[in-house]
Amino acid sequence: MSGTSLDGIDVAIVDIRGKRIKTIAFKSTPYPKAVRAALLNVSTVAAGAKEVSRLNFVLGELYAKAILAMREPVDLIGMHGQTIYHEGGKHTLQIGEAAVVAERTGVDVISNFREADIAAGGQGAPLVPYVDMLLFGGTKKRRVALNIGGIANITVLPEGIAFDTGPGNMVIDALVSHMTNGRQKFDRGGRIARTGRVNEQLLRKLLKHPYFKRKAPKSCGREEFGREYTRMLIDTELPLPDLLTTATELTVRTIADAVEADEVIASGGGVHNRFLMERLCLMVPVRSSAEFGIDPDAKEAIAFAVLAYQTARRRPGNLPSATGARYPVILGKRSFSQGPATEVRRGRLRR
Ligand SMILES: Nc1ncnc2c1ncn2[C@@H]1O[C@H](COP(=O)(O)OP(=O)(O)O)[C@@H](O)[C@H]1O
Ligand SMILES: [Mg+2]
Repeated sequence: MSGTSLDGIDVAIVDIRGKRIKTIAFKSTPYPKAVRAALLNVSTVAAGAKEVSRLNFVLGELYAKAILAMREPVDLIGMHGQTIYHEGGKHTLQIGEAAVVAERTGVDVISNFREADIAAGGQGAPLVPYVDMLLFGGTKKRRVALNIGGIANITVLPEGIAFDTGPGNMVIDALVSHMTNGRQKFDRGGRIARTGRVNEQLLRKLLKHPYFKRKAPKSCGREEFGREYTRMLIDTELPLPDLLTTATELTVRTIADAVEADEVIASGGGVHNRFLMERLCLMVPVRSSAEFGIDPDAKEAIAFAVLAYQTARRRPGNLPSATGARYPVILGKRSFSQGPATEVRRGRLRR
């Protein structure tokens, strides 16, 4: 899994037996600096097809390396890839060449999960809700699974309604990067945001963004809350710490406004932003997914392992209540391993 934060590659080794889902190992590897910069560039500026094609293969190699580095036996790989463009309900593009990953690892790869859902009339996102239902669905409580990645999203259980609430860390990361001339990529622990003050007037204006008023199903990304959005904030010429505190409050408020639950199960890198979490806890009852046996950093990677498992069994992996698709569809494309067996292929490695 590699999310919209462009922070790196998350690999989860997951043992799945029917409905029993057990995480064996998890590791996150940052993207090399130049790769991250190139990805930001193709995601935001008009880039040539040649650059997209090049990065597709560069990422394939990086993903393969990340998997091999786990030194764990693997039967099947579920690979989300890196989204470089997503327009919910219309088109989407994840790169990271699965054929390269299958060749280097000797393991079949399921990739390109979103297209089939869009073809069936869905938004192509979010896909994790299917897994949220499996992991957290068995309850009478009104539960919400919340993931705070670059974008924040929620799944309402047991209904399975799900949508992106808006920016998670994306605007925060961009502002911190601007404030520190790229030396820091995120607001560690929310320490900088804690020093600023919310500009109420700006916050009110930000909350009027049409995205927040739209009805679910809906999804968003760098297209709405990327470079141009941050530019607009910086152009207000407000003190940078105040902008950051206001952006953090925007994440908190848009999540809280969307949530009505007895229990919110939080995951994603945003749970490490203590200031953000403290603010959020004042508005909704939040618990970490760790309390439910799921490492909050690993949840999305685990989810794509489960979705690949579904696909391999020719079973649907989308939740029409979440994506708006006409019906459940089998997600993804399969790339076949064809070379000699490698050590990650089952049996070659001994734990
Ligand atoms: N210690 C931390 N303090 C504050 N924010 C953090 C911390 N660790 C991670 N994050 C935030 O989490 C983001 C990565 O979260 P992740 O769930 O991987 O998102 P995505 O799925 O979009 O890649 C980082 O960009 C950063 O904003
Ligand atoms: Mg990430």
